Amino acid sequence: QPGAQEWVPDGAGIAELRRAARSCEGCDLYRDATQTVFGEGPEDARLFLVGEQPGDMEDREGEPFVGPAGRLLDEALEEAGIDRSGVYVTNAVKHFKFTESERSSRRLHKKPGRTEVVACHPWLRAELAAVRPALVVALGATAAQALMGPRFRVSTQRGERFELTLDGSEEACGFLATVHPSSIIRLQGEDRAKALAQFIADLRTAAAAVD
Ligand code: URA
Ligand code: SF4
Repeated sequence: QPGAQEWVPDGAGIAELRRAARSCEGCDLYRDATQTVFGEGPEDARLFLVGEQPGDMEDREGEPFVGPAGRLLDEALEEAGIDRSGVYVTNAVKHFKFTESERSSRRLHKKPGRTEVVACHPWLRAELAAVRPALVVALGATAAQALMGPRFRVSTQRGERFELTLDGSEEACGFLATVHPSSIIRLQGEDRAKALAQFIADLRTAAAAVD
């Protein structure tokens, strides 16, 4: 497993990185997925959101957070007063990992392992170096641990401000973790409402931090 590093052009902007990422073979996930789903958003974004990996819809459309989790994210961002068009949105892993369902043609999301997260990390680092955001928001444990290490716990450290050192930069940027929108979709009734309210509160904290 070579990792993505050899495909990542040095000092590149987002457009060049996105182009280069199309041919990445840094781990096995490129084999079965439809395409690389790179980050999207303005290169001068102050807020930088990181999810886990593309889902079924994202794999087909080639853009991050355009499926059910993306709809919930959009709703929460709006509630928090954040305009998504000003935010850079990406994932810790750029290819969809799945298993074929035995009973239907559906492709079932499989959580990426530490190997894939590590293999894909050079892309995330390069995106951070190109965008140089004021604040990174990790959506869920995979993204949080990709950036803060495997001992980071979203359950106890969510909503708290940390610092993240960017490659080749003297100054650190802010870091905050919250839950993944998919974890809210799975809930119902009062639990869901509560989880959604907490998610929106974390996003409001993020918005205030970049104001
Ligand atoms: N879940 C993610 O983590 N990222 C996406 O882009 C879509 C769903
Ligand atoms: Fe490359 Fe990341 Fe895709 Fe693996 S998941 S092939 S490292 S872009």
